[in-house]
Amino acid sequence: MRESSFRRRVGGSYHPEPKQLRLSRRQVLVAGGTGLAAAALAACAGQTAPLLRPIGPRGPEVEAAERARAVAGATTASFKVNSGAVTVDLGGVTVDTWAYDGVIPGPLLTADVGQILEVTVANGLPDPTTVHWHGLALRNDMDGVPGLTQSPIAPRESMTYRFSLAHPGTYWFHPHVGTQLDRGLYAPLIINDPSEPGAYDAEHVIVLDDWLDGTGETPDQVLDRLRSEGMDMGGMGGSPASEELGGDAGDVVYPYYLVNGRIGTAPQAIDALPGQRLRLRLINAGGDTAFRVALGGHQLTVTHTDGFPVQPFTGDAVLIGMGERVDVLVTLGDGAFPLVSVAEGKDGAGLALIRTGDGAAPGPDIRPAELAGRVVTVRDLRAADDVLLADRRPDRTHELVLEGGMDGGYRWTINGRTFDRVEPLPVRAGETVRLRFINRSMMFHPMHVHGHTFQVRNEQRDGPRKDTVIVRPMETVVADLVADNPGQWLTHCHNIYHGEAGMMTTLSYVL
Ligand code: C2O
Ligand code: CU
Repeated sequence: MRESSFRRRVGGSYHPEPKQLRLSRRQVLVAGGTGLAAAALAACAGQTAPLLRPIGPRGPEVEAAERARAVAGATTASFKVNSGAVTVDLGGVTVDTWAYDGVIPGPLLTADVGQILEVTVANGLPDPTTVHWHGLALRNDMDGVPGLTQSPIAPRESMTYRFSLAHPGTYWFHPHVGTQLDRGLYAPLIINDPSEPGAYDAEHVIVLDDWLDGTGETPDQVLDRLRSEGMDMGGMGGSPASEELGGDAGDVVYPYYLVNGRIGTAPQAIDALPGQRLRLRLINAGGDTAFRVALGGHQLTVTHTDGFPVQPFTGDAVLIGMGERVDVLVTLGDGAFPLVSVAEGKDGAGLALIRTGDGAAPGPDIRPAELAGRVVTVRDLRAADDVLLADRRPDRTHELVLEGGMDGGYRWTINGRTFDRVEPLPVRAGETVRLRFINRSMMFHPMHVHGHTFQVRNEQRDGPRKDTVIVRPMETVVADLVADNPGQWLTHCHNIYHGEAGMMTTLSYVL
């Protein structure tokens, strides 16, 4: 069964020689899509002969882009990470699962911007795996997408990922094979900027997750059940719904929600001092759950989304979709405060405690009033001045029509196609590219573009820089990016079940 779900991911073939597989596959796919894609490209580029030659993940253009990122005299931050099957205690609930280095979340990796990150990943899993460095503008052959940028790491083998770190911020990593990320395979990656003053006294990484592995079904079995029975079936609970998400809030109901690997009855306690300013780096590593996060008795000031700075915006709670990161500042009062991550539109929440003094620890069912206050979403935010993209007319626009649901089985598509029949979206290096995510389904999709940080341009021309953005039902989100990182870049819904059921495409640099 896992073999077959892997086959689906890589588009129906599993080949020991990745380069040939990749190139021939891309060529076939791109050639097969000559009709629309090539005609559009020719029109845009003012050419008459639409010959699209994809830039491979190891092409000279990729090397050149990496050289341009490299800092003279850069030092290397080296790590080893082991993926394996483990038994983990979530706080009184013990589960058999897969994790990095035996812990959930996996080990925190930190490095400085400009450094080279070098991570040797040993695969102790029974299945092939890869690691994707979510949100990073890195060299394409290190992006971790099997069948597109690398061959998977076979069981008992290892691979060393090595690339320059171009931007500071809050990032994370996870496999890009099947539903592996909905097990315990996820971990934070924080890239520091030593020259950033940092107006805070301490910082903490807060990783949110929805959890079911080892409680009866594996994520693979859930996907199979969704495929055979359709979503929101009785056995998985009622229909999750959220006004904030524009309707349907998910396909899977989870028994647990975790904050830093702990269930709400056994929360992590973070010690701090009254009056301290904390930076909380929130990461949503969930498979099918958006979270609404609040800290009892406090307001939150959002300073970054997806690693990039925004103009500070203060509210009572923040909404964070799967794959997204939100950094917030809080100035702490005196007492014991619940940091609550409500599974948006679902039943249940994750919990951590921030303790600066005496006071009874709040219980797992605490729901601070701030949760019902002003919820900060992407629509409130503006990019910080130093990360604004020039407001240029795009050289090329791609529409990504998002559809799917129960009709004809559990199937989610981009422009009418599942990933096994993908028509890549061609771009050329140097262009300003506009992506228009057009949601024609009844569910929200956190859409993620690999290797780039786009700028959201909806009502506001100067929306936040992001790599993952929630697109609500019947909404269109406009995302502009500068095509400055050649290669083949997966673009997909970060709902792991939607992605596996087809909602993925490729942003394909062509010559
Ligand atoms: Cu976290 Cu393809 O992404
Ligand atoms: Cu989706």
